[in-house]
Amino acid sequence: MDTRKIIDKIIEKSEASIEDIVKILISQQDSYLFEQADKIRKKYCGDEIHLRAIIEFSNYCRCDCLYCGINRQNLHLKRYRMNLDEIIEYAKKAYKAGYKTIVLQSGEDTWYTREKISYIIKEIKKLGNIAITLSIGERDFDDYKQWKIDGADRFLLKHETSDEKLYNSLHPHSTFKNRIKCLKWLKKLKYQTGSGFMIGLPGQTLNTIAKDILLLKELDVDMAGIGPFIPHPATKLKSYPIGDSKLTLKALAITRILLKRPHLPTTTSLEVTNVKDRENAFYTGANVIMRKVEPYKYRKLYEIYPNPNIKEKTIEEERKEIENYIKIIGRKVSTQRGDAIDK
Ligand code: 5AD
Repeated sequence: MDTRKIIDKIIEKSEASIEDIVKILISQQDSYLFEQADKIRKKYCGDEIHLRAIIEFSNYCRCDCLYCGINRQNLHLKRYRMNLDEIIEYAKKAYKAGYKTIVLQSGEDTWYTREKISYIIKEIKKLGNIAITLSIGERDFDDYKQWKIDGADRFLLKHETSDEKLYNSLHPHSTFKNRIKCLKWLKKLKYQTGSGFMIGLPGQTLNTIAKDILLLKELDVDMAGIGPFIPHPATKLKSYPIGDSKLTLKALAITRILLKRPHLPTTTSLEVTNVKDRENAFYTGANVIMRKVEPYKYRKLYEIYPNPNIKEKTIEEERKEIENYIKIIGRKVSTQRGDAIDK
């Protein structure tokens, strides 16, 4: 079967086999895939692009992720924690600049207890009609439950790789099974749930990527972030090559045609590897972009992977810049919260 027929079948049935996906990933002809992904994005999500403000509030982390620059073994990194009122202050600035979603992200830092996170959620919720996405890693069921009661709307927890062996070797502090357990809890608690994975992890094959996409489908995610692996010089994976951005775009497009409705961001790592691919992602299925809003003194220290593109601007300037860019590429800036799209 040629790949066009496979693509049509996936679109029609919303089903795919590992073999189907691998064939599409291998194929050199990707224009039909990208065209169809763009059509489906338009049909299910419209032309609006959702802007999310992200506050990276702590780079302390108890984890040992082999690919990540803020892993706890990195002793050269200066660590920071934003205090609760500072986090709320920056959420307020973002809200004033027009953001309707605040993503609270950090390393796995248990200094922020259940109560502290609850306080932040409740204070941010007082600002107005604003969605809160948590991206703070693996916690207990009761923590997740309390934060949902407090008003958190969404949770991001990437599965990173669907290959259990590979996952466990890249994350010596935890297990794949625990990750999946957490994701299932989040769904059960009715969070709008996001997962995702990296392209180009050492040891990953096209089969793994196919399984990654199928896992997103199985988890029935509301959001998914797919980005290339970028080697960080202070990690064990420093000498491995950067993930392929074309392959990243293809994985994004296949996710769009198979799952249809999830919000798919153009990931920052894609932007870092190649600014042009940020734009390409918007033509191959993406409908979301995130902007950092915490003070620059912290941004420089939240170095998951090297990011050379840091130029200091105000939150308003950055928002304007991205709004203009969205208009230039012929899309609309969403004025809504951009909640999960129902089936
Ligand atoms: N390259 C690309 N993405 C990375 N992440 C962490 N480290 C890297 C890296 N070296 C991604 C992971 C994580 C998210 C916060 O950033 O997918 O979930």
